[in-house]
Amino acid sequence: MTETKKQEWNSNLAFMMAMIGSAVGLGNIWRFPNVLYSHGGGSFMIPYIVSLFLLGISFVLVEYAVGFKFKKSIARVMYSIKDKLEPVAWFILLVVFLITTYYVCVVGWDFIYIILSFTKAWGANPDLYFSNNVLHATDSMSGLFTIVPNVLISVFIIWFIAWMIIKRDLNDGIGKVSQILLPLLCLIVVGIVAFSLTLPGASIGYTQIFTPDWSALLNLDVWLAAFGQIVFSLSLGMAIAMTYASYLPEGSKLVDNAVIVAFSNSGFEVFNSIGIFSILGFMTATSGIPFNELVTEGTGLAFVVFPQVFNTMGSVAYILGPLFFICILFAGITSVIALLEGVCYSISEKFLIERKKTATVVCIVGFLISCIFATGAGSTILGIFDAYLNNFALLLAVLLECLIFGWIYKFDDLIETLNNNSKLQVGKTWKVTIKYILPICIAGLWIQGVYSTVS
Ligand code: PFF
Repeated sequence: MTETKKQEWNSNLAFMMAMIGSAVGLGNIWRFPNVLYSHGGGSFMIPYIVSLFLLGISFVLVEYAVGFKFKKSIARVMYSIKDKLEPVAWFILLVVFLITTYYVCVVGWDFIYIILSFTKAWGANPDLYFSNNVLHATDSMSGLFTIVPNVLISVFIIWFIAWMIIKRDLNDGIGKVSQILLPLLCLIVVGIVAFSLTLPGASIGYTQIFTPDWSALLNLDVWLAAFGQIVFSLSLGMAIAMTYASYLPEGSKLVDNAVIVAFSNSGFEVFNSIGIFSILGFMTATSGIPFNELVTEGTGLAFVVFPQVFNTMGSVAYILGPLFFICILFAGITSVIALLEGVCYSISEKFLIERKKTATVVCIVGFLISCIFATGAGSTILGIFDAYLNNFALLLAVLLECLIFGWIYKFDDLIETLNNNSKLQVGKTWKVTIKYILPICIAGLWIQGVYSTVS
């Protein structure tokens, strides 16, 4: 293998923004509030914080150390450790790529809703609108031959935006875009949360976050849910942190960076939930719909419940609606480019293809796969992809990385790499966590994931 031209972040800020952008995504905006609410409310914060340290920060540190030490893509890192391990890297990259194909589709749906929200064009029954005009779901696989044109166009637009960013030089593309979109996203979220707190009934919602159900702590599912949320939200196991850290210049403070990124991501999702819950509290107060019926997961929350809320809101919804959907778009795009970067990096390094060409091929193939989700059978296939890739393949990726870097690679080298320039230091506790505690926890989560997918 010959060397390709090495890229490097032009500032620590660019790296941090790209890292936080990769983590903050759909999972923070619509997955977290539901997970929190259905797993003990306020008391969920305890397993969540434990998971943040035990799994989140600990695992991000592994990816940082490996990326920074090797300064290579995951495919070459695995090859360098043991040539037989290279297929593991390609398995992980395939999972990441497939996740991206449907993640883009959901961001595409959001794009449609940005446009609809300016006129509340989803009409009086957003549930029906979503089923008929976006999902267009058919009961059988014959729906594969029914194209949903608006979804197809929006999916194309998102892939096109991703391609425009990815094909550029690292700092000009991902670096610059993250430094623009992330501050904008935070600004909009602060505005939405501040406004939502002034709504009548807001307290019905936000108090849920601070009302603990202590008995939930004795429930294993609650702990597994916290672990699952950290894996999803911090994009663990997807080689993103490893890829981004490999572009860091010498002297970077890895441990300090990892802690800031992990706290920013969690801070974002907790803060954002205050807004989401307050808005849902308003809906309960004005429409009488019980709060627990409103806290649905994922697409139901964003594309059905929120349009319903905007319908009850009057003219302010013409501002709040577009801002809400723009938030999801910004968060989604910074995650999509992060997912793609690791894939493109490995391909261009392995096959010595220049960045622009690799990005073009990857985005074209990605778009073609995403077309499946723009058909009448799309939502069914998307559900299958999501269940298997998230509950099964992604956790397997995290587990494999723990085992490979914890047991096969010389782990003490990673400790030295991390401690070199950072104020915060890691040691024995981290080693025990990665080698013993995490594999056991992830294996538990994996078995539960397989069980829930199969049953
Ligand atoms: N961490 C991002 C999110 O929470 O949306 C990105 C992401 C997570 C993408 C998990 C894909 C995925 F399966």
